[in-house]
Amino acid sequence: MKMLVVFVILVHVSQHASAVVLYEGDHFLLPCEFPTFELDNPTVVWSRYDLSPSTVHQRQKEGDELKNQNQLYRDRTSMRTDALETGDLSLNLTKLQLSDSGTYTCSVTSAIWREKRVTEVQLQVKERFPSWAKALLILLVLLVVVLLVTGVLLVHFRQYFMSVYQVEVDSGAESVLLPCKTTVCLPGDIKVEWRDRDNWEVHVYPNGSDQPEKQHQFFRGRTEMKRNLLKPGDLSLTLKYPTDEDTGTFTCTVYNREGNILMKKQVELKVQVCQVEVEEGVESVQLPFRTTGDLPEDTTVWWTDSYRLVHKYQDGSDQPEEQDQFYRGRTEMKRNLLETGDLSLTLKKPKVRDTGRYGCRVYDMEKNLLRGKIVLLQVKDRIQDTDQTVDIRNRSSSTDPTPLMADQSV
Ligand SMILES: *[C@@H]1O[C@H](CO)[C@@H](O)[C@H](O)[C@H]1NC(C)=O
Repeated sequence: MKMLVVFVILVHVSQHASAVVLYEGDHFLLPCEFPTFELDNPTVVWSRYDLSPSTVHQRQKEGDELKNQNQLYRDRTSMRTDALETGDLSLNLTKLQLSDSGTYTCSVTSAIWREKRVTEVQLQVKERFPSWAKALLILLVLLVVVLLVTGVLLVHFRQYFMSVYQVEVDSGAESVLLPCKTTVCLPGDIKVEWRDRDNWEVHVYPNGSDQPEKQHQFFRGRTEMKRNLLKPGDLSLTLKYPTDEDTGTFTCTVYNREGNILMKKQVELKVQVCQVEVEEGVESVQLPFRTTGDLPEDTTVWWTDSYRLVHKYQDGSDQPEEQDQFYRGRTEMKRNLLETGDLSLTLKKPKVRDTGRYGCRVYDMEKNLLRGKIVLLQVKDRIQDTDQTVDIRNRSSSTDPTPLMADQSV
């Protein structure tokens, strides 16, 4: 009877009649009481006179008599086994259907009367979920599906919908592609300009034509934009050897011959800061910095920690007399570094106190910044039970010892 208590509205139509509202699938006990135990050979019949045959359930002394039962009620009705002895003639009707709506009459027949109508119960069975609720549910489900699909499409094709595209790359990557694509048909004679967060000129297409000197030295030799005739809308830029210094928003602007902007897109580049971890006791550690080769001859390379000069390379050689006492005799750079672009610094016998932030700055003679990178070094305390040490230095590329100052006692 559980939830019926909530849904049932009992309205007494007359002394012996009542109306009940129920929902599909419920079961319900149609109430009827009569002192049948006082009668001689009683028969109880539950009927619906609007149906034919009208018998819903019949009980007599011998038990249930369901020969004349309307097939609608087959296996769905039951009465207490001791109904005739107790006088509780209630009918349990299960698995209610919409077609069960109607008036149920409980009548008793005995040797004395032909038939006595004891109770009438009006039953109204409703759909548990009315059609408008079903429609609403379907609409909601559809809405959720549409939202999900839109979300997936947006994520997938965000470069076409959103102005800012995000690219993330590891420190040490050889190159990164900054996408700039358009589905619009572009005329043949366009000019494309890539600029960085500080409005420095990163790349111009077609390059070399009018102002070859416009590109900032910081990006010289590091950019490449191939206009592919098969993919005319692809103006993506390849940036070689990206470092944390490149992190920021790049803007790709397309102009037509008259200098009007046809399209402007942004790419947010994030280059991870390089992190090196090593255990105290290793022979040496390398602070890696690879960039493009063929740097100008007048290039100066400075490696610094937070407040000291760690290593300086100028006029084609190391400048040990300028480096801080603390690092004397402990640093080394590669040979031919300007040609190869390998500006990595080797720090010998790293100690826990060497842990910190190292920066490499590369300038030309006019003090223009050519390259830059940060390396976070962590030298960990040596673990007691490990007697193996790891040398992460690339031995094959180690070079002749740097000319050092006389004092190597540090
Ligand atoms: C009516 O029948 C249902 C289903 O068999 C049962 O769960 C319920 O207890 C019965 N109700 C009574 C009052 O016997």
